[in-house]
Amino acid sequence: SPTREFIAGLPKAELHLHLEGTLEPDLKLTLAQRNGIEIPQSTVEEVEASYQFDSLASFLAVYYPAMDVLVTEQDFYDLAHAYLLRAAADGVRHVEMFFDPQAHTVRGVPFADVVGGYHRAAAEAADFGVDAELILCFLRDHSAESAAATLEASAPFKDLILGVGLDSDERDNPPAKFAAVFARARELGYLLTMHCDIDQVGSIENIRQVIEDIGVDRIDHGTNIVENPELVELVRARGLGLTCCPVSNSFVTSDMKSTEIVELLRAGVKVTINSDDPAYFGGYVAANYMALAEHAGLSSAEVVTLAKNSFEASWITDEDKAAYL
Ligand code: ADE
Ligand code: ZN
Repeated sequence: SPTREFIAGLPKAELHLHLEGTLEPDLKLTLAQRNGIEIPQSTVEEVEASYQFDSLASFLAVYYPAMDVLVTEQDFYDLAHAYLLRAAADGVRHVEMFFDPQAHTVRGVPFADVVGGYHRAAAEAADFGVDAELILCFLRDHSAESAAATLEASAPFKDLILGVGLDSDERDNPPAKFAAVFARARELGYLLTMHCDIDQVGSIENIRQVIEDIGVDRIDHGTNIVENPELVELVRARGLGLTCCPVSNSFVTSDMKSTEIVELLRAGVKVTINSDDPAYFGGYVAANYMALAEHAGLSSAEVVTLAKNSFEASWITDEDKAAYL
């Protein structure tokens, strides 16, 4: 079975990573102090103890309030810079990072400061060998109107953003709610992805919508297609990437879903392995490969396939893919 050194040494792309999900307890405390934000915790241990959840909803209830400490352009830079250094140490060479502007603009933080700080860190990561891009996520538990306004606010920054995604609470917020916003995003030239979280109510119908009605270029999670052979075949035939997050799965569903992930991999689906919200779930990308490899007994060759898939499912040019593969 592959070692941690082998996994970290493989060039990888990370395609499912929420920048706000990389807020480590020590940085949270530093930013709270720097910005004079009152938070309920005063030590790293207390912050860690507050990271308790067993479902997507209970995770999100901890996750969003923690973001209040992110205020200035420098805060967003510091958050992304810290993540990118960790990613480099894990062998990540290319990353497409989600961010949630609405979680900040609703608190009065200017959109330009969020994108500005994140982009400054992304551009600098080239100095240590990481090519970093941004994907703007809409919060699906907010209105379609709010998403549409956020999309228009992003237009001046279009060149700094590769695509758009959809995250937060899936229950009662199906893909179809955002069909018009995503059609407009496509017109603006953005690539499209959406979360289809693990074991959600209506999961199969939501996955069908993202493929057939929205026409996404990738699916985040989407592991539940395993229940539906027609969807597996559709995703395989179209070469659509799935961004799976084993350690995250084990928190939001108490199961890594390794059996399902490996079944899809062996069926020829472009499965990729990612860390989702590593500061909350306690594992960056190499730890996710490691957990899956150990749990499912993957061969080194299968781990190499996962790493290759990560570039193939990425949104870099075919020319750039050839340089990594
Ligand atoms: N926000 C951060 N991580 C998420 C996930 N896995 N699903 C939905 N929303 C999220
Ligand atoms: Zn996610």
